[in-house]
Amino acid sequence: MNNDILKVLLTEEQLDKRVTEIGQQLTEKFKGSEPLFVGVLKGSFVFMSDLVRKVDLKCSVDFMAVSSYGNGTTSTGAVKIMKDLSEDIAGRHVVIVEDILDSGITLNYLRGYLQNRKPASITLVTLLDKPARRKADIHADFSGFEVPDEFVVGYGLDYAEKYRNLPFVGVLKPEVYTGGE
Ligand code: IMP
Ligand code: MG
Repeated sequence: MNNDILKVLLTEEQLDKRVTEIGQQLTEKFKGSEPLFVGVLKGSFVFMSDLVRKVDLKCSVDFMAVSSYGNGTTSTGAVKIMKDLSEDIAGRHVVIVEDILDSGITLNYLRGYLQNRKPASITLVTLLDKPARRKADIHADFSGFEVPDEFVVGYGLDYAEKYRNLPFVGVLKPEVYTGGE
């Protein structure tokens, strides 16, 4: 699998350091309350599990699944809710946890969708931010790293459902996309 990687963008150490910082900032921001962390499946699952362990608060965890991408590297533009929350969020402080903010279409839709349920607040946290490709008017309240306009994998992010288990964030060799071995 590592043979498919062209370059490492973010090492395990860099990820750990930054996730720890964001966890501490969230702990500070929500001191005295019990926020609900909502991970957006599947890409956020690694970030989410590392992040909540750096948050020193009584909090709960839930997940949503949305589909906005096919198996390729470009957005279809459409957002569909595949799995909704299992808890009521009225009056709760909701923290949406995403893997990457790209066009912003997914998070923009999700934010509006959850806003309708009258939470006390919605905070957007993304591990990666690719501002070059933004289409929706949205920015994260907490962002781990800005990344260039390249398709990245690892630490939860996939290409055609693979590479999510890489412990770092990297860029694939071009031949991986074109089907070469
Ligand atoms: P957006 O709606 O365009 O912001 O897309 C958000 C979703 O697209 C993310 O949650 C990812 O699942 C996927 N995505 C966007 N860019 C990348 C990338 O570079 N690598 C892997 N997945 C990506
Ligand atoms: Mg995602």
